[in-house]
Amino acid sequence: MTEPLKYNILFVCLGNICRSPAAQAVMQRMVDERGLTDRFYIDSAGTGGYHIGDLPDKRMRVHARPRGYELTHRARRVQSSDFEDFDLIVGMDAANVDDLRYKAATIEQQDKVVMMGDYIRQFPHYDYVPDPYYEGSEGFELVLDLLEDACGNLLDRIIEQNNIAR
Ligand code: 4NP
Repeated sequence: MTEPLKYNILFVCLGNICRSPAAQAVMQRMVDERGLTDRFYIDSAGTGGYHIGDLPDKRMRVHARPRGYELTHRARRVQSSDFEDFDLIVGMDAANVDDLRYKAATIEQQDKVVMMGDYIRQFPHYDYVPDPYYEGSEGFELVLDLLEDACGNLLDRIIEQNNIAR
């Protein structure tokens, strides 16, 4: 029997060292817990190129570890092939989404870009995932809280819209 096609998700922030590698790890664990590991490919990238090749920011790794997330991604920049290779490209804030839609080569590629904030339910004051880079510990905890909320809702939506079942 042939393998079912994977659904490919790319999470994007500015530096690819704080929010998007955390989103990648949160979503990967949710997919694994639902027994859907072989149905998804999950990656992350940055719109900026300041940290290419770096591990996630130490502070992000320190805050993620007690929640059971080991962040091992190496930062990379968004590239034009991402718009073909991924089914969904998820920006963390409005600037990420604007940059991604600008980089997209076609309307179809633009339509793959969505905003993570649209899937936040439990934190009514947030419609985006704020950049924690210049923040203290609370900023990193907030990012993880928002991502755990939004990833669950986003995954429910993807599973429903694409008839993904075990
Ligand atoms: P991220 O956070 O976009 O969540 O990875 C940032 C990381 C680095 C910088 C800005 C935001 N920076 O300016 O270097």
